[in-house]
Amino acid sequence: MLQVTGLEAAYGRARVLFGVDVTVGAGRLMCVMGRNGVGKTTLLNSIMGVLTPTAGKVVFDGRDVTKLPTYERVRLGMGYVPQGHETFPQLTVWENLQVTLEATAHRDRAAVDEALDVFPRLKEMLKRRAGFLSGGQQQQLAIARALVTRPRMLILDEPTEGIQPSIVLEIEAAIERLHREKGLAVLLVEQYLELALRLADAFVILEGGAVQHSGTAEDLRDDKVKRLLAI
Ligand SMILES: Nc1ncnc2c1ncn2[C@@H]1O[C@H](COP(=O)(O)OP(=O)(O)OP(=O)(O)O)[C@@H](O)[C@H]1O
Ligand SMILES: [Mg+2]
Repeated sequence: MLQVTGLEAAYGRARVLFGVDVTVGAGRLMCVMGRNGVGKTTLLNSIMGVLTPTAGKVVFDGRDVTKLPTYERVRLGMGYVPQGHETFPQLTVWENLQVTLEATAHRDRAAVDEALDVFPRLKEMLKRRAGFLSGGQQQQLAIARALVTRPRMLILDEPTEGIQPSIVLEIEAAIERLHREKGLAVLLVEQYLELALRLADAFVILEGGAVQHSGTAEDLRDDKVKRLLAI
């Protein structure tokens, strides 16, 4: 479903990604791991076109999207939840979802209810400004907004980072349900090994902007993985 080949990216003269290859099959859950600053967010931003790669190719569903603007990638079914649970803090939960709905091609209001069904906790907070939600609730809202676009693949950047444990479990359960029951493909950046072990079909580990190790979920128990993640 997603084929990333030879991806390179830089900030000015500072090169950050060096020929990264990642493939996510339809309905698969791929985990991208690696220490802080190795280039995980840069990889996702390059895949989504938020950042223009200096070399390489991104193919989604057989189509070369490398040159497409981000919103067109979203319309093709790539749902992106950036790091740091971004929402519109001044807008209510309901308005956050409506704004996203209005930007979609389908404009089907049922998509908002479907997204809220994934995170029932948000239903009790529709009139609250997003900026007043807890970090975990904001993360749920950020994922719900991506779901309103009706993605076929979810791209999540550290959705559990800095979030209270009870909500981490809710987010994990939601990702698992979307993946297993609805067949959504997922590209997940996650530093929490136990969670990756429970969710991932396959993984890649980045170090210094390149893939240093990759394998199936079972291989995640390898000592080399622990070394690369420094745990
Ligand atoms: N906007 C930017 N301008 C310049 N350098 C940047 C920028 N964003 C990131 N970098 C640098 O690029 C490298 C990779 O950063 P990136 O954010 O992709 O790492 P990461 O693996 O997502 O880290 P984290 O686990 O902390 O989220 C780092 O050295 C970082 O300092
Ligand atoms: Mg990051």
